[in-house]
Amino acid sequence: MAVPLTPVGCPVSAGAAAFDPFGDGYQQNPAAYLRWSRAQEPVFWSPLLGYWVVTRHASIRAIFRDPHTFSPSIALEKITPTSAEATAALAGYGFALNRTLVNEDEPAHMPRRRALMAPFSPDALQAHEPLVRRLANEAVDRFIDSGRADLVEQMLWEVPLTVALHFLGVPEEDMPTLRRYSIAHTVNTWGRPKPDEQLAVAHAVGHFWQYAGRVLDKMRTDPAIRNGPGWMPYSIRQQARQPDVVTDSYLHSMMMAIIVAAHETTAHASANAMKQLLSQPQVWRQLCEDPALIPNAVDECLRHDGSVAAWRRLATSDVVIDGVSIAAGSKLLIVTASGNHDPRRFEDPDALDIRRDNATDHLTFGHGAHQCLGRELARMEMQVFIQTFARRLPHLRLSEQPFSYVPNTSFRGPEHLWVEWDPALNPERRDSLLRGAQTPLRIGEPLRRAAMRPVVVDRITEIADGVRSLRLVAPPGQTLPRWTAGGHIDVEFDVDAAAGLSIGTRPSRSYSLCGDPDGEPDAYPIAVLHEPEGRGGSRWLHETLRVGDRLDIRGPRNHFRLDEQAPALLLIAGGIGITPIISMALRAKTLGMSYALHYCGRSRRAMAFVDALKAAHGSQMKLHVADEGTRADLPALLAQMRSAEPGTHVYACGPPRMLQALAAVASDVGWPADAVHTEHFVSTLTELDPSLEHAFEVELADTGRTVQVAADQTLLSALRNAGLAILSDCEEGLCGSCEVSVLQGEVDHRDQVLTTAERATGSKLMSCCSRARGGRLVLGL
Ligand code: FES
Repeated sequence: MAVPLTPVGCPVSAGAAAFDPFGDGYQQNPAAYLRWSRAQEPVFWSPLLGYWVVTRHASIRAIFRDPHTFSPSIALEKITPTSAEATAALAGYGFALNRTLVNEDEPAHMPRRRALMAPFSPDALQAHEPLVRRLANEAVDRFIDSGRADLVEQMLWEVPLTVALHFLGVPEEDMPTLRRYSIAHTVNTWGRPKPDEQLAVAHAVGHFWQYAGRVLDKMRTDPAIRNGPGWMPYSIRQQARQPDVVTDSYLHSMMMAIIVAAHETTAHASANAMKQLLSQPQVWRQLCEDPALIPNAVDECLRHDGSVAAWRRLATSDVVIDGVSIAAGSKLLIVTASGNHDPRRFEDPDALDIRRDNATDHLTFGHGAHQCLGRELARMEMQVFIQTFARRLPHLRLSEQPFSYVPNTSFRGPEHLWVEWDPALNPERRDSLLRGAQTPLRIGEPLRRAAMRPVVVDRITEIADGVRSLRLVAPPGQTLPRWTAGGHIDVEFDVDAAAGLSIGTRPSRSYSLCGDPDGEPDAYPIAVLHEPEGRGGSRWLHETLRVGDRLDIRGPRNHFRLDEQAPALLLIAGGIGITPIISMALRAKTLGMSYALHYCGRSRRAMAFVDALKAAHGSQMKLHVADEGTRADLPALLAQMRSAEPGTHVYACGPPRMLQALAAVASDVGWPADAVHTEHFVSTLTELDPSLEHAFEVELADTGRTVQVAADQTLLSALRNAGLAILSDCEEGLCGSCEVSVLQGEVDHRDQVLTTAERATGSKLMSCCSRARGGRLVLGL
């Protein structure tokens, strides 16, 4: 059989040729199914679809961030061309699904998104929480004494649908019909119905279209509905105010699309989450014992097994993605489920780690201008469902069962989820008040504290002048996720415990993991330099911490990842910068890579791990000790390495002066910039450089309060710290979620949302990135 070719005439690889997103492999676990692609061929041509398939996190995120180069216009296009008969049937219903929030290009999209987003604010969503709790409890009431239930059939489909209808302001009726309609819409758009199925699907979709139209007409003509609650009535009112922005055809299309978007994704995500959590009893037990872990667990479940497996984009110009040239007009399937398991972004990505501190980096809600508007509603529902099960049915078990999925590229959740339990052990039989008990719920992304990971200090060793190593292990009964060379953790200090130390407002410090990631994957070794003049963290770790103490950490994360495919490595460490280099050198040795390690320091007494490094690396390690007159000659080192081992990657960690010198030398000798890697701990609070920013204050007009915004802080975070609930999505100035009105003061606009004209009025800003030009702004808050 002839090997299929890509659009540029290259043979398609075996993996790409076999790619079938409608087959069971993809449906059961799209991330595992595409592991080969993430590792070897992150962009490939699918002859089956006629699409380029993109599978790595960074590329997918970059595509989401650039809606101009990567148009969303094909997001709702039928991925399987419809038969002439089905097309005719759809036409008979007047079906004309047009642009919606998910498939509209700029510049039309952003004004509409902004005109329609107010009901998605945390304050507005708060009003729906009692309904979600009531519906969840009532559903559980119906099966709690039965000992066995299909959670999809008996709760997780119906409750999100009812919530979606309430949110939209749609009358609660025809639920079974709507369910059939929305499945048909999924199959019609993202599935591969056989020719004989297409006609039935077309009729269901046609009915759905007409139903949406009827509901819309009723809303328009009935003042009680039009002026009532719900997103659709709100949209109709916005249409009256901005008829050019919110048009008729837009509302009809949105009416249909949003029922699916608001309901089906949450139903699937909730079923996926419960399936994952119950399949790991130890994790489920932790959630039941500590419901404060639930918010982060929700995002980790969305990452691990999200309900939106893939989106589509159209390349509007010639582009290169992961080294593959893609022509303008090409269609892309961007597999978010694969990006969510990319080890370049997530440590130990296949593990379900409910304390993962970057779980919210998942792509399940998209990113940027088209990021899911309803994501906080989805998060809120999922939290309520999990809280309800954890409180009322903590003894739930997953039943033995095969899992089936509606075959399609994009929306994914089990059709059934059977669970069982012993009703005699229902906690409510002992304590009837449990049914109504509530764990407080916060609408929005999980707080950073929710991802805190407890560890115990297992060993402390003084290893050099002013340097001690700590071995951190999991508390009894718990495990730690694996880590990789170059990874780090953030140690959080208890403010009370650290009282008296000048620890500042952010009591957290990053420490590289410094050991053998293959030899001790279940312990976190770090080394801490005592800095008496520092902000207090190292003093506390040196002077107060004892073996057996408990610490709270975040991570592990890895921003300094070793390229294990590199032909050779030049590892350079200065002082305590040896810590990440230790794990890299050991990993390189394990893999049999070619490497050289250069360790620089002031004096031998202050250099940690020297003997262990000598023992492990022998002649591959060279010491450069200043007070012994053996300083490293970086220009000579790089020149020599360059000629001996072309393609060598440099990894360096040390004092800023050393890293600056290295950068200058590397540039002088023409070392490729992408082959020089230096360690820098990225602030997880903000990427602002305080040396380039100034502090300012904002007055909140509604209350007259004044909020200070520090030079290293975003306005958004200052407002949130002051207790204001401000919505945000991208936090990069791309999506328009965090808009705040400005009454006075000059704004330094840094977003990509506002038009030039809007900027000129100075009446609004994006609080995630924009700042005051001067010392003060007055905000309409
Ligand atoms: Fe997206 Fe601010 S959060 S623009």
